[in-house]
Amino acid sequence: MIVLGIETSCDETAAAIVADIPPGPKIRSNLVRTQFATHAPFGGVVPEIAAREHLYHLDVVITGALAEAGITLAQIDGVAAAAGPGLIGGLIVGTTTAKGIAWAANKPFVAVNHLEAHALTVRLTDEVSFPYLLLLVSGGHCQLLSCMGVGRYVCLGTTLDDAAGEAFDKTAKQIGLGYPGGPAIERAAAEGDSRRFHLPRPLKGRPGCDFSFSGLKTAVRQLIVDRGPLDSRDKADLAASVEHAICDALADRTANAIAWFRSHHPEGESLVAAGGVAANAQLRRCLAALAERAGLRFVVPPPALCTDNAAMIAWAGMERLRLGLVDSLDAAPRPRWPLDATGPQRLKRRG
Ligand code: KG4
Ligand code: ZN
Repeated sequence: MIVLGIETSCDETAAAIVADIPPGPKIRSNLVRTQFATHAPFGGVVPEIAAREHLYHLDVVITGALAEAGITLAQIDGVAAAAGPGLIGGLIVGTTTAKGIAWAANKPFVAVNHLEAHALTVRLTDEVSFPYLLLLVSGGHCQLLSCMGVGRYVCLGTTLDDAAGEAFDKTAKQIGLGYPGGPAIERAAAEGDSRRFHLPRPLKGRPGCDFSFSGLKTAVRQLIVDRGPLDSRDKADLAASVEHAICDALADRTANAIAWFRSHHPEGESLVAAGGVAANAQLRRCLAALAERAGLRFVVPPPALCTDNAAMIAWAGMERLRLGLVDSLDAAPRPRWPLDATGPQRLKRRG
């Protein structure tokens, strides 16, 4: 089976070809055209500009992905596009293009949930069977989920305010490290001392699996106001302290989720991380240590497949196509599209 995947939900214009032919799945091409430089002067993604950039570049990116894979449209088995959650302008560009191709080539169309694509990426890169526990950490989302099967997710907790990636992006902006903040903080932190500034770990030690990062942002702002202009040593130490605080908070909440998961799904073998923040090396080390202590295998995709890409969309499309889950050409993009429509099951799942 060969699937064309298209990703336009935020600020990456991406297309990929994934083939699942014995001995296993293979990424035949995976093109990502990032818009970082366009949005950098604004310190964040400007939705209107993002939609226009997708419109300009998507056809070239798709043509490039087909050419690099040496595949024609006649050879594919389906077209998958991210249909939400995300910025509506980009979602319209991606899904409309995918539907047009599917209609012209007479292939099935699959409307993929971007979060489900992050959740399933690990099954493209590694052999991971359901159920598994997932920490999904990106620019817009921060959730702990029990993954029971394709389309079957139980949310154990989510953020009460900012997502982890947002916390990286906003504190990086405050420190003056630029955008996107996660990689900028990680680079600066490599030279810094994480013990120099003590920053809060919201909700640490409390029961449950929810997250909160707004206190961290406030603490960083106050620290900067109190100290005045930061020199490069201050910036590095503050970046290291922020990275440490975010990783520590994520690990604390994940430990609670592991306890719940092990008692409710003793057959589950893996702790998985996904989403852009899962590219962070310190977070990967913290989660690996947690999993080892709990007797779970820690699995995380390579960093380039943690951040937004279209191989994950193609793969999620393939997982759905295999189950006969096809969408009609009038399927609407969904700016909001939770993986667990019932919402976080906080109280019930605490025990
Ligand atoms: O999954 P993603 O590419 O896009 C969304 O779906 O949001 O995640 C982007 C987020 C951004 O907030 C970015 O700062 C963060 O992931 N990120 C990182 C790293 N690389 C990307 N955060 C920490 N460390 C990194 N190395
Ligand atoms: Zn994402």
